[in-house]
Amino acid sequence: MFDARFWLPESINSMAEGTDQFFMVLIWVSVISLLVVLGPMIWMMFRYRASQDIDRSAPPSHHLGLEIVWTVIPTAILIGVFFWGATGYTKMVVPPTDAMEIRATGQKWFWTFDYPEEGIRVRASLEADEERVKNGIPPGLVVPVDTPIKIVGSSADVIHSFYVPAFRVKKDVLPNRYTVATFQATKEGTYDLFCAEYCGTKHSKMITKVSVVSQEAFAEFISKQSEESDKPIDGATVFNTSGCAGCHAVVASSGGIGPTLHGLWGKTETLVDETTVVADENYIRESIVNPMEKIVRGYSPMMPNYSGQLSEDELNALVLYIRDLSPEKEGAE
Ligand code: CUA
Repeated sequence: MFDARFWLPESINSMAEGTDQFFMVLIWVSVISLLVVLGPMIWMMFRYRASQDIDRSAPPSHHLGLEIVWTVIPTAILIGVFFWGATGYTKMVVPPTDAMEIRATGQKWFWTFDYPEEGIRVRASLEADEERVKNGIPPGLVVPVDTPIKIVGSSADVIHSFYVPAFRVKKDVLPNRYTVATFQATKEGTYDLFCAEYCGTKHSKMITKVSVVSQEAFAEFISKQSEESDKPIDGATVFNTSGCAGCHAVVASSGGIGPTLHGLWGKTETLVDETTVVADENYIRESIVNPMEKIVRGYSPMMPNYSGQLSEDELNALVLYIRDLSPEKEGAE
């Protein structure tokens, strides 16, 4: 009970170092606070009960020293907890620039993992994992050991949550918005990946694994998967078949009906109401499914709404395609 290992499996995420100590400090601060409040309360319940013959005439008194003590100490603890928590949280949510990117899509009731660099896609569910293990392929999400990983998550239907207890990582994946989780696994092995947000009938079966493998085994996994037919959708194809190319250039140009998408990624756009927005994954996605929300200055609000027109897959592929039209790539958040 004095160690987080009593509650959780061994932590093997180097980006979550310190999380367990913080967790235990919070638990013990809570336990001690509980005792400090509850102890005297119980004692007073007995000491001052009706049958007790004590002098009740004294008026309630004010004790300045006591007031200061119970204001200053909890405030100091709160400030300490805030800064400790904020530091650790920042470390866990800001991915290093060299992180390997994997796209995770939650869906009733399985996960799809796309590796855009490697051009492969894997589906992960209890059944799919069983099948892969049978074929000698590591189950679930496969990542190399000692490599920073950036998970960009979204959902094709309702809210799911990407929860890996051994990584101390839990991140909701949401429809129509991207969220980012990062980790760096320090130990090879197979770890549980749960959906931690109730998402319907088979929520409790939305279980898979994270397989942390050696660099060699990872390369082998990639080459094996590349032979499979399942591939991420090609964003360029979606772009050309959905009518995007009619208004948006993909090369540096001006004067089109819509803004050029070349160099858009990471750029600060000025909108018609003079506010600015940084073009990241969430902005690009919103501009596709809800184009009237943010109109770039100098353009007319005339883009059709693609909400419901494109599948989650097609949307993700488009966002990736548009991102890669720019020389330097960076993540959301
Ligand atoms: Cu997906 Cu619960």
